[in-house]
Amino acid sequence: MSGSSLLVSEIRAETPLIRRIRLVDPAGKPLAPLASGAHLQFLIPGVADRRCYSVVQLTTAETAEPAPAAYWIAVRHEEASRGGSAYMHQLKVGDTLAVNEPRNEFPLHAPEAGEGPTVLIAGGIGITPLASHAAALSAAHRPFVLHYSSRSRDQLAMVHELQALCGDALHLHADDDPATRMDLAALLGTLRPTQHLYVCGPKGMIDAAIALATERGWPKERIHVELFVEAATQLGDQPFEVELRQSGQVLQVPADKTILEVMEDAGCDPLFDCRRGECGVCQVDVLEGVPDHRDYYLNDAERASNKVIQICISRARSARLVLDA
Ligand code: FES
Repeated sequence: MSGSSLLVSEIRAETPLIRRIRLVDPAGKPLAPLASGAHLQFLIPGVADRRCYSVVQLTTAETAEPAPAAYWIAVRHEEASRGGSAYMHQLKVGDTLAVNEPRNEFPLHAPEAGEGPTVLIAGGIGITPLASHAAALSAAHRPFVLHYSSRSRDQLAMVHELQALCGDALHLHADDDPATRMDLAALLGTLRPTQHLYVCGPKGMIDAAIALATERGWPKERIHVELFVEAATQLGDQPFEVELRQSGQVLQVPADKTILEVMEDAGCDPLFDCRRGECGVCQVDVLEGVPDHRDYYLNDAERASNKVIQICISRARSARLVLDA
């Protein structure tokens, strides 16, 4: 990768809302090989934080490629875009994008004896890392199934390539079609807790999958999730107050903002990375008050202790939190 930029070399309209974008090195050099599940972090003009998009590898040949000529990403245009997806949807061939080094926080597990087929469950644009996992599993001759769900059939992306890649292992679901609508409870009922689950999609799907799998005896190590959107407001979210004990600042967190965003607006410089409650980088000690944990990072004991919080996504059950920040 030349410096930290990539050139847009091709754009495909996958669905009315999803574009697939091919990115190459501006000087034509080969790119770094990436394991499935990796994402690129883009620096978007006018958008304070980085936008992460998984690299889509749809063929086993690409997966095995030691020096790929291009990366593909797929971007859904979000109606509530804060600039990221809207920017990506106005790109033209020949534009360049600033990027940070690729990262992988959603890697595939190493093969285990007697594990059974790996189960990939994608909701909406969450298909991107799971398509790459399907390609990697297929290349390694490891059994898998891919369940891909969207609101309607015309919002499913890359269907022909997925069919070619997965064959009978691909199961397509559409919410508006009672015959194919995904029933997570029924699906998990057909699986064994020795099988690894990978879930990527909206928060509601991930939360439901974790709850159902945990109920049915899945150990945490076999449930792998990646949230595809940042902290979203939930119905009934209330404003609350945060005191930052070290600086003495008292901040009001409105219902539609996170603690992290309010701290940034107030000129603080909090640590963060994923902004989705997955990495743990933004964790802060709680001195008073009760957090409303919404992350995927803490274990049950840490959650129950109410002593720490991920400020990028979690909120407060009490009217006030005092943080060691
Ligand atoms: S920034 Fe990753 S958990 Fe908050």
